[in-house]
Amino acid sequence: MPFPSPRAARLAGAAFLALAACQAQAADPIKVGFMLPYSGTYAALGTAIENGFKLYVQEQGGKLGGRDVEYFKVDDESNPAKGPENANRLIKRDKVDVVIGTVHSGVAMALAKAAKDSDTTLIVANAGADAITGPMCGPGIFRTSFTNWQPAYAMGPVAAGKGHKTAITVTWKYAAGDEAVAGFREGFEKSGGKVIKDLTVPFPNVEFQSVLTEIAASKPDMVFTFFAGGGAVKFVQDYAAAGLNKTIPLYGSGFLTDGTLQAQGDAAQGLLTTLHYADGLNTPRDQAFRADYSKAYKQTPDVYAVQGYDAAQLLQAGLKAVQGDVGKKADMRSAMRAATIDSPRGPFTLSAAGNPVQDIYLRKVEGLENKVVDVAVKKLADPARGCKL
Ligand code: BEZ
Repeated sequence: MPFPSPRAARLAGAAFLALAACQAQAADPIKVGFMLPYSGTYAALGTAIENGFKLYVQEQGGKLGGRDVEYFKVDDESNPAKGPENANRLIKRDKVDVVIGTVHSGVAMALAKAAKDSDTTLIVANAGADAITGPMCGPGIFRTSFTNWQPAYAMGPVAAGKGHKTAITVTWKYAAGDEAVAGFREGFEKSGGKVIKDLTVPFPNVEFQSVLTEIAASKPDMVFTFFAGGGAVKFVQDYAAAGLNKTIPLYGSGFLTDGTLQAQGDAAQGLLTTLHYADGLNTPRDQAFRADYSKAYKQTPDVYAVQGYDAAQLLQAGLKAVQGDVGKKADMRSAMRAATIDSPRGPFTLSAAGNPVQDIYLRKVEGLENKVVDVAVKKLADPARGCKL
């Protein structure tokens, strides 16, 4: 048998090495980094996102894109000052392929900057900071949750439709609160209402006495609010304890009553909120998700669990398109942007900016449920102001 020429031998060697590298990569797990709050007022939200994500992966036999999944975790404590350092723990130290995070808008903006600077794929599974899919948007930036504008804007026409003419807003003083209030104002004033005062408390303070006193003195037709997690529990309880729930109806973005009803008890009964998920949707998709989640974690899922579950679905759409080869970033990301996610909330697609285009439900608290009443706005897309994609 003739010997191969030196050139043919070199080519064969290179092909062998490339194949071996491919096989080694296929055998390696996909590295998924969770940057989430596991302590503080948003701790329960972070855990629900992780639970939802892992549930979907388990349903896929523990694999995404045909590869095992290895998890890395950082507790971001909902502390924006530590955002860059925490993001780089996952990106630079652990060298994750994709980051799933986070809950707090201020932390998420630091994370999005670190992800963009390093060209790491990021799926935001809660934080609504409008800027992430606005001026900060990018090919590797995705969201499976909402913008702060979306649910709040949808409440505007609902509240005006109930005959309310004047509103006071009250929230934490940070991006999520400011943007929710701006979204509500836009929807409410377009529909004929007027916001007469904006009240804030610093994040994550839960001393609400002075704002409640001011609301009582100002006597608006209604109050619109953004609070979530532990702060939402306390605000709803204090509002009722002050007797304001009897005289001035309280409305909010649905985070006010999602994942919080057990703790809020009677104080939350009857509250109307707007959100992209609700109890009682009664679709086969949602029923199956709720049954699986309850079985796995011994609790009913909330909106945060849904967002985590859908982050895994979105990643799977990208990884499937490249047979698990995360190196093919452009192809993976195009597949993600084009995906229709079969979400428990109802199917949704992503806007060019990477944010869900989704129905926003009107919900009413009944017992331990945020029961769907109606669709407040169908297929609501965030305006993505400032996004150049
Ligand atoms: C935010 O900071 O964007 C946020 C936090 C909790 C619930 C919803 C939004």
